[in-house]
Amino acid sequence: MKDLLRQHTSLKEEIEILLNNQVKMEAEASAKYLAMASWCDRNGFKYSSAYFLSQADEERAHMLKIFNYIMTVGGTAVSPEIGGIKQDYPTFRSVFEAALQSEIAVTQSINRIVTASRNGEDYATEAFMQWFVTEQVEEEDNARRALELFDVIGEEGTGRYFIDKAIKKLGDGGGEDA
Ligand code: FEO
Repeated sequence: MKDLLRQHTSLKEEIEILLNNQVKMEAEASAKYLAMASWCDRNGFKYSSAYFLSQADEERAHMLKIFNYIMTVGGTAVSPEIGGIKQDYPTFRSVFEAALQSEIAVTQSINRIVTASRNGEDYATEAFMQWFVTEQVEEEDNARRALELFDVIGEEGTGRYFIDKAIKKLGDGGGEDA
């Protein structure tokens, strides 16, 4: 049965597993961002909450993009199980540190898929994954810029209030020029 199923796809099993793992990772990223949005909301950081909500949406879109690709090439897309999402954070800054860490892990995972596709001569998947390679540059940049605000503005006094406001600008399209 398994062999018969595999005749319907040119997707190698190894790549299919990696892609399904990525579906799960994007779903987890979406859930993490929801938890971050909730934490920020509870702690009075409304703009950051909105920023993380929109990040959560983006991650879900990433998940669907890969999910659809697996189906398009005749593979078996697996609806991801996720759990153990951290709901609490010690500080405002630590939320953004966790966001950057998560994005770096996603980038590494995407790079592994690109490498495996190339090594396995699966050029369709390699080409498909290029969009994610480019997207991650932007996502990591956003996460780093957000963290930089903590150093540039400083957290003393009304600092966190202004950091939160500056996050809104970041969410609107990135920095002063947007
Ligand atoms: Fe879809 Fe931010 O990784």
